[in-house]
Amino acid sequence: MQKAVNVYFYRMKVYLDNAATTPVAREVIDEMMPYLTEHFGNPSSIHGYGRKAKAAVEKARKTVAKYLNASTSEVFFTGCGTESSNMIIKGAVRDLGVQRIISSKTEHHCVLHSVEAVEQLGVQVHYVNLDKQGHVDYADLEGLLVASDAKTMVSLMHANNEIGTLMDLKRVGELCKKHGAYFHSDTVQTIGYMPFDVQDLYIHFLSGSAHKFHGPKGVGFVYINADANIKPLLDGGSQERNMRAGTENVHGIAGMGRALELAIEHMEENKQHILTLKHYMINALYKHIPEVAFNGDISDEGSNYKVLSVSMPPHPKAELLLFNLDIAGIAASGGSACTSGSEKGSHVLEAIHAPIDRKAIRFSFSKYTTQAEIDYVIENLKRILDVPVTA
Ligand SMILES: Cc1ncc(COP(=O)(O)O)c(C=O)c1O
Repeated sequence: MQKAVNVYFYRMKVYLDNAATTPVAREVIDEMMPYLTEHFGNPSSIHGYGRKAKAAVEKARKTVAKYLNASTSEVFFTGCGTESSNMIIKGAVRDLGVQRIISSKTEHHCVLHSVEAVEQLGVQVHYVNLDKQGHVDYADLEGLLVASDAKTMVSLMHANNEIGTLMDLKRVGELCKKHGAYFHSDTVQTIGYMPFDVQDLYIHFLSGSAHKFHGPKGVGFVYINADANIKPLLDGGSQERNMRAGTENVHGIAGMGRALELAIEHMEENKQHILTLKHYMINALYKHIPEVAFNGDISDEGSNYKVLSVSMPPHPKAELLLFNLDIAGIAASGGSACTSGSEKGSHVLEAIHAPIDRKAIRFSFSKYTTQAEIDYVIENLKRILDVPVTA
């Protein structure tokens, strides 16, 4: 135990829960402050205060549109990723005549529960088969698409938030095109981390959320292809060209725009930095934690580089692992395939049939993560799990 003593006497604060939310970048706060202070106008007002606020909203819209290679008229600001997906799924059923939805059991609850809500209204719902890493079975998807002539929408997430497994947006889009289906992807975990080009994809709807890429909470966006005319979810004023009533979250939108600018500018270097740390952590875990495994795809091509879901071997201390990590100042998140104690089981781990006797710990990284932090986590895992120093 001697080796570990130095490390856990020195208590660090380590945030490795960046799939849950990310710290707001300093530059983003600087961008937002003027709209919380002197530029407090309402973007709908025609005087100077209003015009200043409106200009900030339109600047952010241009940033999002340029990033997606979309038209500014196809980008609408919302309150969060959850709202975006609700707007799309409920709007597609109500306004586009969608009678059938094909989705998956590993979607975020904002999609799963929206799909369940429209199912109550009589929409047919099918869940595509997944392999044990959570990849979509593309042959099964095509089978489901050809099985009916009913107007269909496919809603499949780009990267899973718990296990990181990536879906092939281009491939699913091509299947949707071939079989005349609408296509929505919850891209909340990948916006700001990967390039997007909606002209090169067959896609009708995307959803994004600022707090996942170092922007503020409570602001998101939706991309709605010009050919997919849905109506608003909220009734009220004519903001967002009648698509999203309610006075705009100007400081939030300005912050999201700046956060996206930074993400675009530093995308490749951030990716390389995070990938290096992810590889480092995978190797360290294999080396130091006997029988460790991973949930989902951990390859560079098949996963979201910021997420690593570790499958811990059965161990008497595994139940309290997250708690003990928290005591050591380490923030991560957890889950298991079944319901244990007060903790609700993870629907994602259940859907991929993760072993019920293993605990999942999700570590998710950011551009701010350091190798010293990973070392500290490994030392603490070894200490908590009583791994011999010689291991
Ligand atoms: C994949 C995915 N979709 C949607 C959401 C919801 O986003 P928001 O928190 O902005 O509502 C999250 C957030 O956890 C997510 O990870």
